[in-house]
Amino acid sequence: MKNICVIGSGYVGLVTGTCFSDLGNKVVTVDIDESKIAKLNQGVMPIYEPGLEELVERNVKAGRLSFTTSYEEGLKDAEFVFICVGTPSAVDGEADLKYVRSAAETIAQQMDHPLVIINKSTVPVGTGDWVADIVSRMQPEPIDFAVVSCPEFLREGSAITDFMNPDRNVFGSTDQEAAEKVAGLYSALGAPAVITDIRTAEMIKYASNAFLATRISFINEISIICERLGADVTEVARGMGLDKRIGPHFLQAGVGYGGSCFPKDVKALANMALTHGMHPQLLNAVMDINDFQRKQIATKVRELLGGSLDNKTIGVLGIAFKANTDDIREAPALTVIRNLANQGANVKAYDPVAMENAEREIRNVTLVDDAYAVAEGADALILLTDWNEFKNLDMKRVKESMNEPLLVDGRNLYNPDDMRKFGFVYRGVGRGY
Ligand code: UGA
Repeated sequence: MKNICVIGSGYVGLVTGTCFSDLGNKVVTVDIDESKIAKLNQGVMPIYEPGLEELVERNVKAGRLSFTTSYEEGLKDAEFVFICVGTPSAVDGEADLKYVRSAAETIAQQMDHPLVIINKSTVPVGTGDWVADIVSRMQPEPIDFAVVSCPEFLREGSAITDFMNPDRNVFGSTDQEAAEKVAGLYSALGAPAVITDIRTAEMIKYASNAFLATRISFINEISIICERLGADVTEVARGMGLDKRIGPHFLQAGVGYGGSCFPKDVKALANMALTHGMHPQLLNAVMDINDFQRKQIATKVRELLGGSLDNKTIGVLGIAFKANTDDIREAPALTVIRNLANQGANVKAYDPVAMENAEREIRNVTLVDDAYAVAEGADALILLTDWNEFKNLDMKRVKESMNEPLLVDGRNLYNPDDMRKFGFVYRGVGRGY
């Protein structure tokens, strides 16, 4: 059993802290947001993540997990402190490190015994050294500490499974012993540990996300070519993915990648290259293709409707940036809805769990209660998130309630032949015509 303090109770902090407590450690999670901590103390999760609520409840009951707004309380017995705060994109694409800075400063001011400080937030290469510098400058008197970079590879929607079954964990530090200590916290999970220097660890995170985003933009570009040449990108991806050197993952063509990670991280990596005098050609292309892919959806619908969206009613199925999350940050749906509305369409939409976020953040859309209400009277229906709930809709009912039977499937969720049998004019992504 180790004593761990986690700073930040967003996706990363909450999942990391809860999973460490489930592995038998004593974890105190600190967040400066009082309402979030109050909610957590009442057992209310601030985010939607399958399995999280039960795991929190179990470990709070067992006395291994607690939540507080007090750094003092969090750091009291801690041997390890994880920094898991947000790093939003600043206007110029650089990661904004204000929350990391303030966490590092507060740790420095309040620590009264040696600590291993672990950076889990995705931060530009060099931030670990910067954190070490802040801590040594801000300590009232020198106390031993080490900084370790341990980047996060969790996916929203499967974060707990990902934490418990990692492909690898990465630990980077100038202090080898500290890196090994942090690796020890993960040893029960049995995954390979990559122990390296701090800048390399930070770069592994960016390079991994940028590579996955590149695969998505690659297959999206192939999808455009498939569409023009009459090939089916889903079969192309399957045929490619069976080659062990390529593998099947992250080859699903669609409406482009979204979420709080890929868009921000690819941009930040490109920016790091740029500020060091490089022209990141591939990363720029990855971002351009992603923008194009999003915009193309509205274009497709407009063409199907004879060249104008003015006064047309368009139904949107799915708002979250992917299934199994309520997160709509950088969701393709935001761009698609905006494009449709800007061209005069009346847009209505539904998402199984992201409605609250959508209500707060999206303009120019009417939110309705279910998928059938989206279809009712619509001139076209667009699927943007591949929720299970949409897989087995009564498509006969959907079609009959629509004004025009146009279906644009942004995730290639449906079988084109089946949809045509129902009487839809069906367009997937990269599936010929
Ligand atoms: C991603 C990474 O997968 C995690 O390893 C990483 O820890 C995380 O970012 C992070 O940096 O915090 P996440 O953003 O939760 O995780 O979601 P993914 O499942 O990776 O999907 C990202 C986007 O790509 C989604 O919009 C998804 O719909 C899209 N996608 C994914 C595709 O369009 N095609 C695919 O084949 C796969």
